[in-house]
Amino acid sequence: MNRFVVRSVMRGLINGRSYCSCSSIGNGQVYRSAIVGRSLELSGQRNGVAFGGFEWRRMMSSSPASVEKATSEKEDKTENSVMEETKGKEVMAASYWGISRPKITREDGTDWPWNCFMPWETYKADLSIDLNKHHKPKNFTDKFAYRTVKLLRIPTDIFFQRRYGCRAMMLETVAAVPGMVGGMLLHLKSLRKFQQSGGWIKALLEEAENERMHLMTMVELVKPKWYERLLVLTVQGVFFNAFVVLYMLSPKLAHRIVGYLEEEAIHSYTEYLKDIDSGAIENVPAPAIAIDYWRLPKAATLKDVITVIRADEAHHRDVNHFASDIHFQGKELREAPAPLGYH
Ligand SMILES: [Fe+2]
Ligand SMILES: [Fe+2]
Repeated sequence: MNRFVVRSVMRGLINGRSYCSCSSIGNGQVYRSAIVGRSLELSGQRNGVAFGGFEWRRMMSSSPASVEKATSEKEDKTENSVMEETKGKEVMAASYWGISRPKITREDGTDWPWNCFMPWETYKADLSIDLNKHHKPKNFTDKFAYRTVKLLRIPTDIFFQRRYGCRAMMLETVAAVPGMVGGMLLHLKSLRKFQQSGGWIKALLEEAENERMHLMTMVELVKPKWYERLLVLTVQGVFFNAFVVLYMLSPKLAHRIVGYLEEEAIHSYTEYLKDIDSGAIENVPAPAIAIDYWRLPKAATLKDVITVIRADEAHHRDVNHFASDIHFQGKELREAPAPLGYH
């Protein structure tokens, strides 16, 4: 009897939870969870809330097998009907909103395993870009930006030393912020002033996304420790807010600082490559996500990945120094063609 009561209470809590999640976050969320769950099955990746949702459904569907034989048929029937009902709701939600991902394949016909980016967003990095190009500081703003970046490098060098994998992973969490802030503020400005942005919103958001893909790649190679996660939280809290204020006050200084940060990133990745060549860092196979994102050969290695990331950084350097130059000429970004798809 007691077991029956406990079981009923537990079932009530579980059902209550499923009801709450449907009503509070909406059917669209349920569908999204289902899709992500499916993609997790395909890609073998697991993370966060989506994983929780997936596991929850697996738990529900496997629960009858774990129920003791003493459970009455009536209980089983009720449980199964609840399951069917929940399952039915998910199908209905998917059907109702009409959102479904068509079957996407690679060029060789194999299934596309990623939901985070699509084949048409991938590219071959332009490795012919000049890695040594440098913007010589000409005026006070340039010199201030240059000195600021050089100063920021001191604690970075002390903290990471030659641990380039860890260094790259941590710095990419910062590198993906400026593009998002710039794109967001230009977006808001476009709304406020009823003006086109000249493509710059998209260009800066592309940069942010590209930087985030660097991070998604690095995290496949280096797993962040708990205190590194804590450091990222702190740094992001400070850097995001500081950069918003800086971009609002002086976009030309903000872009110049990012331009110099990118020059430093090129330097760091060059040192990373030196350590791979010397054998200090093992030249492991490239992560699958990197092979698809940069259209690398299947036998690509870490060295190939770092080489294409370094080329990306050189492109970001150009974009940001260019943006700063536009401001220095007394113009707005929208007056110059945005470097869309510049990789
Ligand atoms: Fe990056
Ligand atoms: Fe970058």
